Amino acid sequence: MILVTGGTGLVGAHLLLHLLENGEQNLRAIYRKENHIQKTKSLFELYKKGDLFPQIEWVQGDILDIPSLEIAFQNVEKVYHCAAKISFNPSEEDELRKVNIEGTANIVNFCIDKKVKKLCHVSSIAALGDLGQNESIITEATEWNPEVLHSDYAISKYGGEMEVWRGHQEGLNVVIVNPGVILGPGFWKQGSGAFFTSIKKGIPFYTLGSSAYVSIIDVVKIMRLLMHSDVNGERFTVIAENRTYKDIIFTIAEKMSVSKPSIEAKSWLLNLGWRLDGLFSFVFRTKRKLSKQAAQSLQNTDLISNEKVKNKLNYNFEPIDSYLDVVIDFFKKV
Ligand SMILES: NC(=O)c1ccc[n+]([C@@H]2O[C@H](COP(=O)([O-])OP(=O)(O)OC[C@H]3O[C@@H](n4cnc5c(N)ncnc54)[C@H](OP(=O)(O)O)[C@@H]3O)[C@@H](O)[C@H]2O)c1
Repeated sequence: MILVTGGTGLVGAHLLLHLLENGEQNLRAIYRKENHIQKTKSLFELYKKGDLFPQIEWVQGDILDIPSLEIAFQNVEKVYHCAAKISFNPSEEDELRKVNIEGTANIVNFCIDKKVKKLCHVSSIAALGDLGQNESIITEATEWNPEVLHSDYAISKYGGEMEVWRGHQEGLNVVIVNPGVILGPGFWKQGSGAFFTSIKKGIPFYTLGSSAYVSIIDVVKIMRLLMHSDVNGERFTVIAENRTYKDIIFTIAEKMSVSKPSIEAKSWLLNLGWRLDGLFSFVFRTKRKLSKQAAQSLQNTDLISNEKVKNKLNYNFEPIDSYLDVVIDFFKKV
C-alpha cells in the first residue's frame, strides 16, 4: 500500500494521478474534509482521466491526529508526504509550526513504527541554506544560517526536514525534494495557483527579485523516480529555472492578454508596504498580506542550482515558458 498525504492539494493530487497513470496500485490518500476530495476528482477530470479516480482509497485523517494516522498507516509500505500548510501570514506562525514540524514528526514516527520501506518528503526551496560570502549559487549543501531572517514558513519547512533527518538516523529510508514555486493547473485559489488568478485580476506592482520555478509534472515525476531509485538519505532541489518576478509576471500577463503591472516595487516601497500592512491589519483586524520576510524575499536575487537532480536522474526539466502555455490553456477553460 502507498500512502499519500496532501492528496487534496496541488502536489498530492497530481502525484496520485501520476502514480495511477504509471500503473501503481493500492493507493491510499488521506483527506480532512470530504468536500475537498472533489478538488482532486475535478483535477482528474480536467486531465480527462476521471476513470482512474475510483482507484484511490480515501481515508479520513489529519497529520496532527494520531488515531486517524493509525488507520491510515495500516499495511503501508511507501509514503509520499505532501501535506503541509503554506502561509506567509505572520499570525499563522503557530499553525505553520504545528502542521509542518509536528505533523511531519508524526508521519516520520509512524513510518518507523510501521516499518515503512521509504518516505518521500516534500520540502521547499524555502528550507535551503543561505549563501555565504564566497558562494554564488544555492545548492543542497548550502548551510542554513540561523542569523538570517527567514519566514515562518521557511522555518517550519526547515524544522520538518529536521524531523525527516531524525527519522533517517533512526533507520528510515528517506528522500527529500525541495521544489521551487510549483506551476500547475486546478488549484487556482490556493498556493501558487492563486498567482494566475491575481495576475488575471491585475496587479499593480512587480519586483526585480527572483525565485525558482518548476512545473508540477516535473515535481511528481521526480518524486516517483526518486522513490523507485536506491537514493536514501539525500535531498534534491527540484527547479527548472531561476526567473525574476518581473519576468514571470510579465510573461504570464502577456500570455493571458491582460495588462502588466506598471510600478516597480523598490526596496523603500516594500519596506513601507510591510509596515503599513502590519498597522492596517492591527487596527482593522484583517489578514496580513505582506510580512517583513515576504517583502525581503521579493527583493532576493539568490540563484538556486538544479545540477544534483539533473545528474542523478539524467533528467531534463520542461522549460517554464512552454509549460506556462499549458497551464494558461487550462486556466482559460475555467
Ligand atoms: N505550491 C508550491 O508552489 C510549493 C512550492 C514548494 C514546496 N511546496 C510544498 O509542497 C507540498 C504540497 O503543497 P501544495 O502546493 O500541494 O499545497 P496545497 O495545495 O495548499 O495542499 C496542501 C495539502 O495539505 C493538506 N493538509 C494541510 N494540513 C493538513 C493536516 N493537518 N493534516 C492533513 N492534511 C493537511 C491539505 O488538506 P486540506 O485539503 O484538508 O486543506 C492539502 O491536501 C507542501 O509540503 C509545500 O510546502 C509547494
